[in-house]
Amino acid sequence: MNAAISHRARSLVAYSYDDFPVTTGQLDLRGDNSPPLSPEFARPIALPTATVASYGEVRGEVRLRTVLADLFGVHRDQILVTAGGSEALLLALTCITDHGHLIRMPRPAFPGFEQLATILGLRVLPYAAAVGEVPRRGTMPVLICTPHNPTGLITSPDAPGRSGGWVIWDLSHMTTSGTRIAEFTAEFGTQDIAVFSLSKLLRLPGARVGCLIARDPALLDAAVRAKTHLSMSTSCLAQDLALRVLQDPTATHELRTRTELFADHRARILAAVAASSSLRAVAAADGTHIYVETVDGADAWQRLAGYGVIGIPGHVFNGTTREVRLCIAQPQQIIDAATNRVRTL
Ligand SMILES: Cc1ncc(COP(=O)(O)O)c(C=O)c1O
Repeated sequence: MNAAISHRARSLVAYSYDDFPVTTGQLDLRGDNSPPLSPEFARPIALPTATVASYGEVRGEVRLRTVLADLFGVHRDQILVTAGGSEALLLALTCITDHGHLIRMPRPAFPGFEQLATILGLRVLPYAAAVGEVPRRGTMPVLICTPHNPTGLITSPDAPGRSGGWVIWDLSHMTTSGTRIAEFTAEFGTQDIAVFSLSKLLRLPGARVGCLIARDPALLDAAVRAKTHLSMSTSCLAQDLALRVLQDPTATHELRTRTELFADHRARILAAVAASSSLRAVAAADGTHIYVETVDGADAWQRLAGYGVIGIPGHVFNGTTREVRLCIAQPQQIIDAATNRVRTL
């Protein structure tokens, strides 16, 4: 008998930015092209031998959890440091579902959501995120991304109702600038779980640091058990870098400036789409993405690419080819050139 690849693994579809290459003269609006937040990224990290010669705490380093707890307005025992937002999502889904269960997930959405659902053998009941649909809490767990990738829509913590079943909140695209995150999680009950990634506005995708936040001690204990022998502890080097960046005043100041700059970029790209005759966009309110569709139903990626504006096609987010995602976290001159091109479409 031939050794076979599992059905689950065979059904996974994964894209990378390289599937949508940018050639000379084209504008790259595929992902965040902003520089790192601070020079802390370039400083070498020297850890004591004892630190790297043993596994770290599965929950994460106390100093990092303390800083994250402050950001999220929770106790440090309610934080689990993870290998990126992806592991936080995997742990959250693992702890609240069993094989064959139904879960509400947004479409379009970050492709990792449905990929993890496939890996865990879950059945996805999608909801229409681009028109602002928010499922109610119930017997079925719900996953909500706010600010939403790829539409930039935001959902308030009470939108799915205050009591009922589990809600996983993906806050990966929320800025850590100011008190927004803590105000958001202040509304959380025991059936709310937040996942967060330091890969996005904090610009640490290569460090692979994220976290899971929950108020239910049983859920946290289950997530710690699941992380043990999965990734064990998150890399000590990466946690040290994350701590430095979170505590660095230059990075904090730069993040505040950047958040304001992106609001300006968002308004300008949205205005350019509104001025065009063949495109329309979801009314993004936050985050770093704009979700655009063609009025006549034609392939949006092709239409924009024909004018040298390269985004990511909607089907990557389990949306349609009529849609395309543009990332507004770009240098000023790219936004200037993109607005000029989009306006004429
Ligand atoms: C909404 C959302 N959640 C989670 C992730 C995964 O984050 P990480 O790169 O830290 O695993 C991403 C990455 O793009 C994302 O957009």
